[in-house]
Amino acid sequence: MTTVADIKVELAKVLYPGFQKSIIDFGFLKDIELVDDKTCVVYLDITSSSAEVAEQLQRDISSTLEKIGISNATLNLKKPEEPKQQSNSVSGSNIAPQIKNFIMVSSGKGGVGKSTTTVNLAIAAAMQGKKVGILDADIYGPNIPRMMGLQGQEVEVVGNKAKPFNAYGVDVMSMGSLMEEGQALIWRGAMIMKAIQQLLRDILWEELDILFIDMPPGTGDAQLTLAQSVPVTCGVNVTTPQHVALDDSKRSLDMFAKLHIPIAGIVENMSGFICPSCNTESDIFGMGTCEGLASEYKTQVLGNLPIEPAIREGGDTGKPIVYCQPESISAKRYMEATAKLLAFVDEVSDKAENASIQPTTPPGVSACSSSSAAGAASQSEKKESHAGCGCSN
Ligand SMILES: Nc1ncnc2c1ncn2[C@@H]1O[C@H](COP(=O)(O)OP(=O)(O)OP(=O)(O)O)[C@@H](O)[C@H]1O
Ligand SMILES: [Mg+2]
Repeated sequence: MTTVADIKVELAKVLYPGFQKSIIDFGFLKDIELVDDKTCVVYLDITSSSAEVAEQLQRDISSTLEKIGISNATLNLKKPEEPKQQSNSVSGSNIAPQIKNFIMVSSGKGGVGKSTTTVNLAIAAAMQGKKVGILDADIYGPNIPRMMGLQGQEVEVVGNKAKPFNAYGVDVMSMGSLMEEGQALIWRGAMIMKAIQQLLRDILWEELDILFIDMPPGTGDAQLTLAQSVPVTCGVNVTTPQHVALDDSKRSLDMFAKLHIPIAGIVENMSGFICPSCNTESDIFGMGTCEGLASEYKTQVLGNLPIEPAIREGGDTGKPIVYCQPESISAKRYMEATAKLLAFVDEVSDKAENASIQPTTPPGVSACSSSSAAGAASQSEKKESHAGCGCSN
């Protein structure tokens, strides 16, 4: 008749998946309950939350114990909770580490006012005391130099890096300043990736609180490259209020969700028209339609900006309204939207800091220790995934 001791002898032959050590050597076996001649329950306490590891163990234990007549071996597994999908702001790599926060300004379709919004939010953030930059990542149609009054200015090169310009208290670099005016570029996937990474790495960005990034419209290689190159703190979606534009906005908001980028909010641009002569407000593209979209994506409307000729003029002449006409309704709305955005950035940064100081090993087990069996397993697991704790042990 099979005994608990016999079962233990057999279990000593079962290797922990991916390792050359048995589950007993690792100290994972907690108990064996022999129910009858053919049935037993094996209690294990393991360090991996992976479903594949659990399945592999079940298979290996069943087949090993079958050899000694136990045809029904049940596994009772205690394992850590699966790690939650981390926000990109925590998990992303950072090729421009001197910059604390990156805000991606996106839209589902072109021409809705992304660049105008980027410029005015960035200047408003600088006016509210932040050290700010704008990266014009719209490699297809870079408009930021004109909107910031920098058109035609020569880039200063130091060593093999380019110095950003500064206008209205904001550091600025654009693909438009690096290529000849009016030059049309045809970008393929790999080139887009290189261009975006160079705009982050080969520009002499100073230490910044926030880099606003004006994206090309849509959801393509540029957005993906950015998310893979820096930890994007949050995304802002710019849209006009008509339903056709909202449909496209959903794609842009879905992209943020897929890339694990927290959504700071939606800017409803061209929301109503205030007639400069009689001050009457008319509803051209619609108004207030973004509230529903915001609640669908559990986010907020950062602001409603009317169609105002002065906003367009500010863009065309390089005199952004938020700076040049601070008393206008639109300037005040940009300032309010920015205050909401900065509050959101603080919230995300606090969470990211907290996440980075959470212990990653059970209490009492050092991440560097190889003295306990469990410690040894988690240490080896870390090595496998190339994510060591960084100590010299
Ligand atoms: N609220 C507004 N009132 C009046 N004009 C506006 C407003 N917002 C943007 N515009 C004007 O609309 C045009 C398009 O805006 P902008 O270039 O910012 O859009 P975009 O989304 O960045 O476009 P693209 O997709 O081509 O990059 C510009 O001429 C700009 O000055
Ligand atoms: Mg633009």
